[in-house]
Amino acid sequence: MEKIIVTGGIGYIGSHTVVEFQSAGFEVVIVDNLSNSDIKVLDGIKNITGKKPIFYKADVSDIHEIEEVFSKNKDAVAIVHFAAFKAVGESVQKPLMYYQNNIQGIINILSQMQKNGISNLVFSSSCTVYGQAKSLPVTEDSPILKAESPYGNTKKISEEIISDTLKSDDKLNVISLRYFNPIGAHHTAEIGELPIGIPNNLLPFLTQTAIGIREKLSVFGNDYNTHDGTAIRDYINVVDLAKAHVVSIQRLLEKKNLTNYEVFNIGTGKGTSVMEIVKTFEAVSGEKLNYQIAKRREGDIEQIWADTSKANEILGWKAQESLENTIKSAWEWEKRLAQRKVNK
Ligand code: UD1
Repeated sequence: MEKIIVTGGIGYIGSHTVVEFQSAGFEVVIVDNLSNSDIKVLDGIKNITGKKPIFYKADVSDIHEIEEVFSKNKDAVAIVHFAAFKAVGESVQKPLMYYQNNIQGIINILSQMQKNGISNLVFSSSCTVYGQAKSLPVTEDSPILKAESPYGNTKKISEEIISDTLKSDDKLNVISLRYFNPIGAHHTAEIGELPIGIPNNLLPFLTQTAIGIREKLSVFGNDYNTHDGTAIRDYINVVDLAKAHVVSIQRLLEKKNLTNYEVFNIGTGKGTSVMEIVKTFEAVSGEKLNYQIAKRREGDIEQIWADTSKANEILGWKAQESLENTIKSAWEWEKRLAQRKVNK
């Protein structure tokens, strides 16, 4: 069985990706410092796949901790690197913490790959690197703009660090996946998003409002230049997103027509407004959502969605799940969390 190291494998996207790797027959080693995740997620993964992954509590930004993990797993064929801080607002408050964690993290991963002769990496990047693109949908060749936040800048700089490293080392192969907005949960409701504190992102805030944890959802801005005035994003099902990592690793291992650095947009190719998300949620859940129109959130862009033809053609990957089923899965997960609290 081929072994993959997944950093941040207990987190939201990481845990769904671990499930897909195990289901595809890989042996998974998770490295996670549990700073924004819950160890119980390992049980959820086991309930779905029948197998608990190997787990190391270690911090990717700490070279000693990460060296130890690599020294024990020199036989890994590839790394999938998720472990990073991701809250845009927090990054504005604590930029050094974001640069320290996210930049030191990618440097440590690349240097340990070189040291241990592991050549393949999939890196979690973000559509944030495009900023507010002039032309939509964005392709991988759309201009990279000045980042709006330190978080966004860590993704932009990480991509540059990867690209510079690859110019100096022809043994390394990297695929960066630029995620659009991941939402939803595994259809079994065994794993899903677990925000700590008040969620920043739309879907967890929305489902927490519907279940009664939050009083009201604020729709940030209805005066954008869009069909209903609310901002537009490309919401991608988290399991579809997870599968993009498996096909990326398979491409890196097969090496067929591979160039050493490849970048792919991972979205649905379709834009959805905040109000459309609210209405779809109400339709699939049968719940009435308490929401109000609020002023625009600082730093938000008006609209973005992906051109995914490169991922379709080269990775053979395409988003499969409907928005309805995806939102339903997020709601089932929120209800499961509420049930667990009752049972405690
Ligand atoms: C942001 C980042 C993205 C990052 C993601 C993960 C940017 C441009 N985007 O995405 O790179 O990967 O966070 O944390 O930096 N909204 C509301 N009410 C709410 C919450 C959100 O109306 O309570 C709206 C927002 O204004 C936005 C949409 O919902 O239009 C999606 O917001 P959110 O889920 O926070 O994601 P992004 O800001 O798009």
